[in-house]
Amino acid sequence: MVNIAVLGYGTVGSGVVEVINTNHDNINKRAGKEINVKYVLDIRDFEDDPVQKILVHDFDVILKDPEVDIIVEVMGGVDPAYTFTKQALEAGKSVCTSNKELVAKHGAELLALAKKNKLNYLFEASVGGGIPIIRPLNSSLTADDITEITGILNGTTNYILTEMESKGAAFEDVLKDAQEKGYAERNPEADVEGYDACRKIAILTSLVCGEQVDYEDIHTEGITKLTETDFKYAKALNASIKLLGTSKKIDDTFYSMVAPVMIGKNHPLIGVHGVFNGIFVHGNVLDDVMFYGRGAGKLPTASAVVSDVVDAVKHMNTNIMTIWEEKKNRLGKFEDFKNKFFVRMRDKGLDDDQMLDIKNAFGNVLYVKAPDVQDELAFITEPIREGDFVENIKGLSDVLSVVRVDF
Ligand code: HSE
Repeated sequence: MVNIAVLGYGTVGSGVVEVINTNHDNINKRAGKEINVKYVLDIRDFEDDPVQKILVHDFDVILKDPEVDIIVEVMGGVDPAYTFTKQALEAGKSVCTSNKELVAKHGAELLALAKKNKLNYLFEASVGGGIPIIRPLNSSLTADDITEITGILNGTTNYILTEMESKGAAFEDVLKDAQEKGYAERNPEADVEGYDACRKIAILTSLVCGEQVDYEDIHTEGITKLTETDFKYAKALNASIKLLGTSKKIDDTFYSMVAPVMIGKNHPLIGVHGVFNGIFVHGNVLDDVMFYGRGAGKLPTASAVVSDVVDAVKHMNTNIMTIWEEKKNRLGKFEDFKNKFFVRMRDKGLDDDQMLDIKNAFGNVLYVKAPDVQDELAFITEPIREGDFVENIKGLSDVLSVVRVDF
């Protein structure tokens, strides 16, 4: 029997206990040993829940119990999760987590500590919820030079964008509806400003390049400026607007960003709707591969955490090698990243003058129209350096919106 302890009895923690109870026969068969939840740590009490019998409030009880081999850290946030994880790994206990903040910030260090102590630090659920992506990157896609990883990595924003697109609704209205349905937090900042997706693409890029990618270095834009009119143009172009986290390797340098991007009907992520996530990977020999599923939610996320527990049981006293060194990866300068841009401007009725300004700023562009949209000029540029775009757009007045384009 292997004893585990679950730190945090919130949505994911209670999901972990539920998954282990529901699928215990299958899980134990696959692990080769019976998995027993010996403790759950939480500051709260749960009087009406059977978990109360194994509930503890003091982490030291778990830390000092030599019968506990694996710790499931599903508390979220950096502190005290970081301290508890380090103490656990120092005390000879492997750790499985869904904590993207902690993995993004200290993943390399915690992996090194786990390796030193012949233990494991596993974090499948930190990116893409229930979607297997960390283990595939670590063990299946090892024959390739991965030159792109791009994902719809946040369910809340994908739900909002899908609703804006299908209902022609405004961002604020859809956000309110998403909050009422429980798809968005009361404080939605981390999701709608792209911070959550940023941490996830930082983790994925670190695994792809094998070095520490700091999320602070990744250019991040959210979805709050998108309007119904942007979606009208997207529809006219047979395209969609998605919040993408992307890293592309160009001449041995990774360029990363999180931003809304207009993608065309042939893009692999075009069919990822609602709260679902999708992650697209391009390898130099494999070509394209896609991972799709529920990127959040109690049971899908718990499924990924428990799959890590099974892996940790199968690799007791053996470190599963993960290449993610503490050495910092210097991302390419964002200003040098090249993208195409969709730009909307107010049409001042001075066609020739305005078009001359646009030509002076961006050379030849593709003008686009959308039904029901009047008094606007809209166009798509050729690929241009981000730095040049920022400079050249200054030459235009009355710009209404800007969205990157990938088609
Ligand atoms: N708020 C996140 C999302 C939860 O919407 O994807 C999963 O990380």
